[in-house]
Amino acid sequence: MEASRPIGVFDSGIGGLTVASAIHRLLPEERIIYFGDTAHLPYGEKSHDAIRYFSLRISRFLLERDCKAIVVACNSASTAAYDVLLEFFEDKAVFVNVVDPLVKAALEVPHSKMGLIATHATVQSGVYEKLFSRADPNARLSCLATPLLVPMIEEGFVHNDISRSVLDTYLSDPSLKDIDVLLLACTHYPLIRAEIESQYGGTVRVLDATEYTARALRNALAERNQLSAGKKEADHFYVSDYSENFARTTRLFYTENIVLERCNIWNDPT
Ligand code: DGL
Repeated sequence: MEASRPIGVFDSGIGGLTVASAIHRLLPEERIIYFGDTAHLPYGEKSHDAIRYFSLRISRFLLERDCKAIVVACNSASTAAYDVLLEFFEDKAVFVNVVDPLVKAALEVPHSKMGLIATHATVQSGVYEKLFSRADPNARLSCLATPLLVPMIEEGFVHNDISRSVLDTYLSDPSLKDIDVLLLACTHYPLIRAEIESQYGGTVRVLDATEYTARALRNALAERNQLSAGKKEADHFYVSDYSENFARTTRLFYTENIVLERCNIWNDPT
């Protein structure tokens, strides 16, 4: 396996760019091929089977582009499809999801009761509860679906009256009462992390998966002697459906100016 091969990163849309951005910062020598399935967004409202099918097809697309590793930069896809991705492709690339690094980090911080906010698909999967109770049978975790947050963030509604009111309503849900740690289990949410922290006034530790996922990727590559020594080709950012709106919103999620390229893998019947 050549270490100069690219890293594939995928999400339902552009939210996974928060993870791609963290990878780019931590591992600037790695070439990134990003795929945002904007034709099917939001995954958070899709069925388990649909998310598994989309994730398998996108992973095949990334493997065809010779990716040495694939980062599932979407909680909805990580919870629904990670097992089937390993089943089909584990021998072809290193797979990293956004769930395991967040759970590991959460278990390392002092906590008595943890809260978690995410899409419907992630909450309904029950994957976080399963992982926490396996690691610590006494762990107390309360999960709340917060579906309004993705469209709110994509519209750039951050630190304004609407975002304050939506967040206030969600965060005062009785299920999140008395938490001391809040997990942001959606790759869009790092964009409102500072606002959530300020709503809690520092009384709740807020964690998201971006940096932890980038570090998990670095460790997995280092273990296999697969860290790239230098980038020879440019990164690529593909979306399955292009609109000016996605292109504009991209600027919220990625630190550098990037060009979205349309690549509709869903037209290909194979
Ligand atoms: N970024 C996706 C996630 O982490 C949420 C967006 C969607 O529902 O497609 O689950």
